Amino acid sequence: MARRFDTPGMGGSTDLRGSIEESVRPHVGRTGGLITALRAVQARIGYLPPETESVAAAAFNLTRAEVKGVISFYSDFVRAPKGKAVIRLCAAEACQAQGGRQLEREVCRRLAIEPGATSASGDLTLEHVYCLGLCSSGPAAMIDGDLMARATPEKIVDAFDSAGRAKT
Ligand code: FES
Repeated sequence: MARRFDTPGMGGSTDLRGSIEESVRPHVGRTGGLITALRAVQARIGYLPPETESVAAAAFNLTRAEVKGVISFYSDFVRAPKGKAVIRLCAAEACQAQGGRQLEREVCRRLAIEPGATSASGDLTLEHVYCLGLCSSGPAAMIDGDLMARATPEKIVDAFDSAGRAKT
């Protein structure tokens, strides 16, 4: 599980920049180093803060635009902090045919959040994913890495409540 930085409480941007530099440094000069450096930053901080672009650009002798292009290209890179709990709803065809849209509407209504958003409290991020490998048991969801087959709004809200309580 990625360690998450709460930037204001962690000593501000200097500490954050130092953490990014420490994560990037071991990968400089290696084949595929930029990607592994970015992954290291994300693993350490939980996302790629904006400072990552300038640190990586300087370390790999690239422009910020080139680094930004790489970050944008790979959907696994996250550019904003996620909520304490992350709910992923499968939006692929098989799950849509098994009630995925209705499930999403109801989960959004109950938790007052939209897909792709993080709640203002930072408690929750709701994301779409495209197939979780449970196509015949949809609609499928994932709550903090735990798969859920035949997901219902009740099961998802219960799992979110449990995850939230475990983290407070
Ligand atoms: S389509 Fe949803 S799990 Fe495969």
